[in-house]
Amino acid sequence: MNAPTTIAVNLQGRAAPILKLQNIESAYGPIKAIRGVSLEVRPGEIATVLGSNGAGKTTILKTISGIIDPAKGSVQFQDRDITAEDPARIVQLGLSHVPEGREVFPLLSVRDNLAMGAFTRADRERVAEDIEVVFGYFPVLRERAQQSAGLLSGGQQQMLAISRALMAKPDLILLDEPSLGLSPKLTREIFEIVVRINRERGTTILLVEQNANMALNAADYGYVLENGRIVTEGSCADLREKEDIKEFYLGMKAEGVRAERRWKKKKTWR
Ligand SMILES: Nc1ncnc2c1ncn2[C@@H]1O[C@H](COP(=O)(O)OP(=O)(O)O)[C@@H](O)[C@H]1O
Ligand SMILES: [Mg+2]
Repeated sequence: MNAPTTIAVNLQGRAAPILKLQNIESAYGPIKAIRGVSLEVRPGEIATVLGSNGAGKTTILKTISGIIDPAKGSVQFQDRDITAEDPARIVQLGLSHVPEGREVFPLLSVRDNLAMGAFTRADRERVAEDIEVVFGYFPVLRERAQQSAGLLSGGQQQMLAISRALMAKPDLILLDEPSLGLSPKLTREIFEIVVRINRERGTTILLVEQNANMALNAADYGYVLENGRIVTEGSCADLREKEDIKEFYLGMKAEGVRAERRWKKKKTWR
């Protein structure tokens, strides 16, 4: 029998966060990549972290999923502290990571890649059934089920990486730049399915992207990351209307040399 799900609600009437980062600092040796990041993701939403190349997006996701241990700060998932927890344990707790560059197993078939995504699950007998469910989202993967994943196109590998994450039946998916290297058309297709997965399955998603346009249209709430720090946040509807965002992330103003210089000097965000 299924117990009714209750979502804890705080005094402001908003659902308690499913994920909460407090003052995270992460470094690669002497290089500080993340300098005090705090953010929250609410259950059922798509949240996004926008930032240009090198801003620290991937480092945030690796810190959440336990690949990197932070120097400072804490990561809370549901009602647990998962800071520096073992990555496989984190998957088991319901948090899956779709890494940058897909990282599918190139020599394994599509079907075996999907089966690998379910490795932490106890109910192994349901795996074949769930492979059919993910084929419903990405029918091209069904056609390629027996092919080596390394032979798929970039877009198909992205679909496979997302599907592999779904096989763990996560409550939260971390999605690292799904648009990287894909055509605008394929990017749109993949984003549509990500939104569908969120709506149909109620899976919470934390998406990091350089493609601000796609991310702000798909997500509910957004953070802007620069040089390892969050510089602004808000609902995506509000962020889309901000002059700074329009100018520097959505490319909606002519950017001459002067604009570029002004940008480099700029320290404050409205
Ligand atoms: N393995 C690494 N070793 C050293 N520095 C790294 C490593 N990975 C990332 N960095 C540095 O950390 C910063 C943040 O990188 P990253 O999180 O990959 O940014 P993003 O995903 O936003 O492009 C960058 O300055 C990058 O050069
Ligand atoms: Mg990255």
